[in-house]
Amino acid sequence: MCGIVAYVGTKSCAPLLVEGLRRLEYRGYDSAGLAVHGGNGIEIIRAVGKLANLDAALAKNPLAGTVGIGHTRWATHGRPSEVNAHPHAAGSVAVVHNGIIENHVELRKELQGRGVVFASDTDTEIVAHLVDEKLRKGAKSLEEAVRQSLTHLRGAFAIAVVWKDAPDEIVVAKQDSPLVVGIGDGETFAASDIPALLAHTRDVLFLQDGEMGVLRKGGFTLTTFDGTPVTRATKRIDWSPTQAEKGGYKHFMLKEIHEQPRAVEDTLRGRIDLERGDVLASEIGITPETAQSLGRVYFVACGTSAHAAMTARYWVEQIARVPAVVEIGSEVRYRDPVFLPNDLVIAVSQSGETLDTLAAVKAAKAQGARVLAVANVLDSAIPRAANGALYTHAGPEIGVASTKCFTTQLTALLLVAVYLGRQRGTLSADGGRRILEALWHAPGLMRTALDEEAALKAVAKKHLRARDMLFLGRGPNFPIALEGALKLKEISYIHAEGYAAGEMKHGPIALIDEEMPVVVLCPKDSHYEKTLSNMQEVRAREGQVIAVGTVGDHELAEYAAKGGVDVISIPAAEPEILPLLTVLPLQLLSYFMADGKGTDVDQPRNLAKTVTVE
Ligand code: M6R
Repeated sequence: MCGIVAYVGTKSCAPLLVEGLRRLEYRGYDSAGLAVHGGNGIEIIRAVGKLANLDAALAKNPLAGTVGIGHTRWATHGRPSEVNAHPHAAGSVAVVHNGIIENHVELRKELQGRGVVFASDTDTEIVAHLVDEKLRKGAKSLEEAVRQSLTHLRGAFAIAVVWKDAPDEIVVAKQDSPLVVGIGDGETFAASDIPALLAHTRDVLFLQDGEMGVLRKGGFTLTTFDGTPVTRATKRIDWSPTQAEKGGYKHFMLKEIHEQPRAVEDTLRGRIDLERGDVLASEIGITPETAQSLGRVYFVACGTSAHAAMTARYWVEQIARVPAVVEIGSEVRYRDPVFLPNDLVIAVSQSGETLDTLAAVKAAKAQGARVLAVANVLDSAIPRAANGALYTHAGPEIGVASTKCFTTQLTALLLVAVYLGRQRGTLSADGGRRILEALWHAPGLMRTALDEEAALKAVAKKHLRARDMLFLGRGPNFPIALEGALKLKEISYIHAEGYAAGEMKHGPIALIDEEMPVVVLCPKDSHYEKTLSNMQEVRAREGQVIAVGTVGDHELAEYAAKGGVDVISIPAAEPEILPLLTVLPLQLLSYFMADGKGTDVDQPRNLAKTVTVE
């Protein structure tokens, strides 16, 4: 997730673009840059790190001009560095881009075959070269060159392009990444999000997928990619800048909960081959020989990431038939563990900087094990220390309580399990296709599951006085129960515990009385009957049940009709996808309980987003 801004008008644009970028910093930043058309040509300035560094570079070398584009980068392809920072230039064209070009490897090869030399490792530079090529081959305008270039691109992108020979215009285009145009008085803006525009105009126009347009001083012309003119009225935005950053949501956590379907789509982007029932992820870096000789998969992680790893253990064992263990980072590092040369250690971390997980990675590598990092932050310490890295591409997560990073970790780890299964021959092409098709449809199902928000808000209200809560699940939903309990305690400060449902009678059942809400994960899966019995055991002791079940489950509905059970529905899904769905009501429940109690949801007490201490 990056932020882009663009301006065409009469004011000196550099300060205005930087201010816009500052308003987009919540989208993540590791570098930033501007390209400004000074009338005679385009000048570019880029700097690594915070926007202050770009400010300093501009103070030394001010950019004059009234037409320009800017970018704050959150790296997805190519490490954070000045050379990988946007804008990217080719010939007399400069481009900023937010998103992921899925077919970047193939396009890069094609362009290299035609003699193009790349300056960066980014997917974005491809767009600059394509547009430059089209202009050199006779495209009549920048708009036409961009339109022609778009036909080559697959994936998600919002782009803004400037060209030396078009000193009064900027061409923008959108597919699966946000882009909003702001209409001012004699000036026109574009940005990834509204906060960047609010200081200048509140009249905005949202581009839809497959649309592009030209920004000029006097306004904006909108067309589809194939050139059909589009007429759309502007909308008036009356949010405050802070409300706008949160997309109108009260907290970043709630926004991030709702971003999950899109984040999962981004994790999957370009990684699924449905025809072969296989995963395209050379970055995993495991040859078929290595996959076949694996003795064990050894997950290391902390907190929510450890719950993702625990869920993945079921998949790795079932799909790839390799023994799998999960250890939390802080235990591994002081346990003098034994790693074997044919172990695959998978380190799971949102930040990629968690010290305990990093220490475990170093211990594993020191003993000769191969390490794969599953991380969200590009080029962070854990991926750097590992032999390979699979990034989740969830975009920056601002809320301390992890939500979208959890579901994207699950997605990436399921891809790893399928990849290993296919390489080891334990999963047929048909089997791979079944799981990958289900994954492909998961974002749609997640959207449906999130529609239960109002019901969860009502359930949360009912239990606001709870002092303790239990979360029960079986199989891959056991780690989801742990995750539900962690979420609740982190942000609402209510004591909560997750248990394997079958373990309840070995102790925790003693806690149950009419004051104890118990969340039971009972989707229609192979554990359904047994989990339902556990739910009945809770009801027999007057516990208040919140059941997460499959839509249309009459047995559960009949049981709930007797009282004491609130049912929250998720859509029916293939078993591997269920954890991606069952966790969503738990996140929303925790959120509404915390918000109902008035806690600081995004920055709960005593917690830090990245834990780089022991
Ligand atoms: O950045 P990591 O994924 O390595 O972080 C691990 C934990 O610190 C993290 O998941 C923590 O438990 C979150 N606050 C959970 O919401």
